[in-house]
Amino acid sequence: MSVEATAPAKIILFGEHSVVYKGPAIVLAIDRRASVVASKRDDKRIYIDAEDLGFSGCFENGEYIAITGKAWRGRNMTALYAASRKVMSHIGIDSGINLKVRSEIPIAVGLGSSAAVCVATTAAVGELFDSDLSKEKIAELSFEGEKVIHGNPSGVDNNIATFGGIMRYERGVGLEHLRLDKPLPFIIGNTRKKRSTGNMVESVRALRERNPEIVDPIIYTMASLSQVGLDALFRGDTRKLGDLMNLNHGLLSALGVSTIELDDLVYAARSEGALGAKLTGAGGGGCIIALAEVENLSRVEKGIRAARGQSIRVNITDEGVKTRRLLVGDP
Ligand code: MEV
Repeated sequence: MSVEATAPAKIILFGEHSVVYKGPAIVLAIDRRASVVASKRDDKRIYIDAEDLGFSGCFENGEYIAITGKAWRGRNMTALYAASRKVMSHIGIDSGINLKVRSEIPIAVGLGSSAAVCVATTAAVGELFDSDLSKEKIAELSFEGEKVIHGNPSGVDNNIATFGGIMRYERGVGLEHLRLDKPLPFIIGNTRKKRSTGNMVESVRALRERNPEIVDPIIYTMASLSQVGLDALFRGDTRKLGDLMNLNHGLLSALGVSTIELDDLVYAARSEGALGAKLTGAGGGGCIIALAEVENLSRVEKGIRAARGQSIRVNITDEGVKTRRLLVGDP
């Protein structure tokens, strides 16, 4: 028997980086998913097949042994290894596992692919050993995996990948689940430039440490912007949402996390009629998001492509992590 778990990608509408220190992030789960299929092994190895990404290998006594692809790929997979071990130790089991990872989420571009894979791994391994993990437990155990690669994450990514929907997340306060009456499509512009969330969070930390009197007020402003943005979202005030996205992008640039490529996509989207556009996630590469009236969506997408970005139209999804048992012959 094997178990498949899938979990969604995310976009941060407001509050990336500031959420590490203060105030809420407003996060949306989107309709792109990662899948992990888990099955038991007879030995104690944790074998990971990520052949879609060009590698596979196994962890033996905590050590990554590459089977295909480069040995450094093990670094990306440490989170899955750590999450699997956390689940098994929570259940009181010590077993070998095969994990087959497949994903529709572009990796390392700020869309929460590593959290989605980590959450899916946690849920799949839990279900494989008949443990009825609550969503809160899945989020908690997968956070342990996330910490291994991202250093000091706020917890926003693993929570949205677990619960889906729209979330107000504040560190130390917790999360609030929210619902919109109307669909709200966003356009993602992907620079295709990969970057590490951990490094970007560290660069903001270092800037703040050198310049607390300047950086702290920026972070406070971002925190209140997130709250105002949440109200605009629920009033359906798209013009105000657009303004706030533009302001948020300016503040993120001030923290040094935008790049020329991100700015190019932001300005391309705005000049093609977007109500607002900003980088999303940790920055340093990765993606922007743009909001536009329905009649302008195609123009904005074309603008992003003309500026050498990949454009992806996405919708918010309520579906968080999901598991299903696979029988022989199931697709
Ligand atoms: C990453 O998706 C968002 C950041 O705020 C980091 C975090 O919250 O852990 C940049």
